[in-house]
Amino acid sequence: MPARKILVLGATGVIGKVLVEALLCGKEHFDSIGIFTSAESATNKQALIESFKSRGVSVVIGDLYNDDQVLEAYRDYDTVVSALGRYAIDKQVDLIALAERSSTIARFIPSEYGTDIAYDATSVTEMPHQKKLKVRKFLESGAISRLKYTYLVVGPFADLYVGNMAQEPEMGSFDPENKKATLLGEGTEQISLTTMADVGRLLVGVLRHPEVCDNKAIKVNSFTTTPNAILAEFERQTNSKWNVEYTSIDQLRQLEKKAYEDQNSLSSLYTLRRIWTEGRTLYEKRDNESIGLTKMDTLEMVIQQAVANPVSAFQSGKL
Ligand SMILES: NC(=O)c1ccc[n+]([C@@H]2O[C@H](COP(=O)([O-])OP(=O)(O)OC[C@H]3O[C@@H](n4cnc5c(N)ncnc54)[C@H](OP(=O)(O)O)[C@@H]3O)[C@@H](O)[C@H]2O)c1
Repeated sequence: MPARKILVLGATGVIGKVLVEALLCGKEHFDSIGIFTSAESATNKQALIESFKSRGVSVVIGDLYNDDQVLEAYRDYDTVVSALGRYAIDKQVDLIALAERSSTIARFIPSEYGTDIAYDATSVTEMPHQKKLKVRKFLESGAISRLKYTYLVVGPFADLYVGNMAQEPEMGSFDPENKKATLLGEGTEQISLTTMADVGRLLVGVLRHPEVCDNKAIKVNSFTTTPNAILAEFERQTNSKWNVEYTSIDQLRQLEKKAYEDQNSLSSLYTLRRIWTEGRTLYEKRDNESIGLTKMDTLEMVIQQAVANPVSAFQSGKL
């Protein structure tokens, strides 16, 4: 069954708002686009929500922890796209159970949009994957018989990977204002990245091609590069030589261990950056073309954007 009526959860977050933009760009493929957002976001992110509304997005303000409100919101939609942030990942188990119980929701896209949590045998023990693994386990369990699902695996967001990690640059950082970078590994390790705009296009592709996406992980990327190549592109576009430092994989592992010992709130990010630098974003084959993604964003475009508008490598859409 095609996805025609789309409800987005977490629509005001870092990736959620990009997903809504992409749905709006492809709105001819959908009958309705709605968001379910918290009262807090409705107040604090009013301009964003008004801009969605003015372009035809239906807005439900409610509490994801209130089952009746969620079920009521589900009634008008056939597909739930979740872009909930990391503190609400495990809440999705309840939201999926409610979707299974609802009479209308046929498909649930859980909040993934990142590192492959089933890349190889090591993935199952990685700390940042645990809640997402729990969600996958529930979707694949006997408790769910009616709902279809797709996991969107995109690796690191290119826009953030090339950002400035000002507070802890040793976890990898590109600072165009001060022309300095800290490269991970030896700088030569390959990494596959996806821009947030391409993640939005991926979502539209997945919703339009359920026949190739149902009940599996779809793996895409915008491009594969290396820290050295990213630096070279920054140097080319800023017409200057940058100061460069390196964090070797061994140093990254030590920093990761210390981050957990210190209960550093960025400890998950250390793990993810170690996973990425170890090559666990690389594949022989991707799904880009099977869902109609033939033209992807490029490294050059991402660096142009980062030079014009420097970004932090860590962003949170939480209030
Ligand atoms: N590949 C990458 O590099 C990368 C980078 C960042 C994120 N991600 C992934 O993208 C997904 C979304 O992350 P994000 O950073 O976009 O999320 P986020 O901005 O932190 O939060 C997204 C939205 O979730 C809702 N939310 C947050 N905390 C909640 C809570 N405790 N209870 C209920 N709702 C809550 C809020 O929406 P409302 O207030 O509107 O309800 C919020 O705007 C995650 O799966 C994350 O792992 C990937």
